[in-house]
Amino acid sequence: MQIYKVGGAVRDRLLGKPVTDIDWVVVGATTEEMLAKGFRPVGADFPVFLHPKSGEEYALARTERKNGRGYGGFIFHASPDVTLEEDLIRRDLTINAMAEDDQQNLTDPYHGQRDLEARLLRHVSPAFAEDPLRVLRVARFAARYAELGFTVAPETLELMRQLSESGELEALTPERSWKEIARALMEDQPQVFIEVLRECGALKVLMPEVDALFGVPQPAAHHPEIDTGVHTLSVLEQAALHKQPLSVRWACLLHDLGKGLTPEEEWPRHIAHEHKGLKLIKAVNERFKAPKDCQELALLVGKYHTHGHRALELKPSTLLELLQSFDVYRRPQRFEEFISACEMDARGRKGLEQRSYPQADYLRGAATAARSVAVQPLLEKGFKGPELGEAIKGERLKALKAYKEAASA
Ligand code: CTP
Repeated sequence: MQIYKVGGAVRDRLLGKPVTDIDWVVVGATTEEMLAKGFRPVGADFPVFLHPKSGEEYALARTERKNGRGYGGFIFHASPDVTLEEDLIRRDLTINAMAEDDQQNLTDPYHGQRDLEARLLRHVSPAFAEDPLRVLRVARFAARYAELGFTVAPETLELMRQLSESGELEALTPERSWKEIARALMEDQPQVFIEVLRECGALKVLMPEVDALFGVPQPAAHHPEIDTGVHTLSVLEQAALHKQPLSVRWACLLHDLGKGLTPEEEWPRHIAHEHKGLKLIKAVNERFKAPKDCQELALLVGKYHTHGHRALELKPSTLLELLQSFDVYRRPQRFEEFISACEMDARGRKGLEQRSYPQADYLRGAATAARSVAVQPLLEKGFKGPELGEAIKGERLKALKAYKEAASA
């Protein structure tokens, strides 16, 4: 049997990038031979094994044929006579379809190296279309390698467009899609992921609520970039520049969805967009089964981001309601993430990227003031049950009044 390194490990070594995962392909072997060498099978009917010591993935060279919708409908053919070239041709991109032996000799029948040099994400063959997830993968690679100057080849973009129009994207499971979305959002230029999805028509299918923001104007006084879609991408870009966690990036992407619902005659104003957007945020959250922390933060940021921007003008009672809504006493981290998302929203505007955001420290101070109210003295005074709750709220309100006075003095 011959063993080759394949896929991302070869690509990233040639790009001079760190290699984390190594995938191997084994040519000329049978399942029985692999088992005899101590490899552990990964799935019952899938010719992939884990190395007994390194735990790395070793796949028997295989051909694939699709016989249904989605990811389930594949017929695999793995046998010792499947060649390396046959295995490589079923892969997504030419830069992912190179193999390397233990002497670092490259097998590159589909010109991956040429495309690496040309900075092109190009599909290997029409078999690309057999897995619709590849539309998201290509957009993710475009985001990851944007800093190196990579773009999607026009013929690949065209194929992605056909796939998006064909209805195949609807067959993707929420879990597979979310995995790609989450990885893409954590890249350094996540806005490129959304741009590429939009360019090939996939955004309209996957997240029509985000797609609808393009072409919707906002008041130039607050939004020199005007377009709500452009603004959303800038907010996401700022979130990546400021190394924000996934939950904040997800909330940034969805914070203004309500603006897509404003009747044209009300443009460029978006009255109550925060509230109107909530049902859309909920729908996107559920469509991809986003993790709970992402779902929660997106809804809270959607509802309260304008409160964040107006923090310095809020009445103490409104500040208290905001802090209560976040349960800042038990969940301080979530409030901190809200503040970050608001700050990214404020900076994700043309020419305002470097602005200061005094609201952030003001909100932190308010949270500290409210949290500093001690419960023990109230218990000692004999408060119990709902009355205790009211008494605590009253003390917190006093603390916030004092905080606001001191801050404006
Ligand atoms: N592959 C594919 N189509 C997919 C998934 C994977 O063709 N839908 C092939 C590609 O050749 C890819 C290899 O399987 O290079 C390994 O896949 P994976 O580990 O998911 O991705 P990597 O290319 O290693 O990229 P990453 O660095 O993002 O993990």
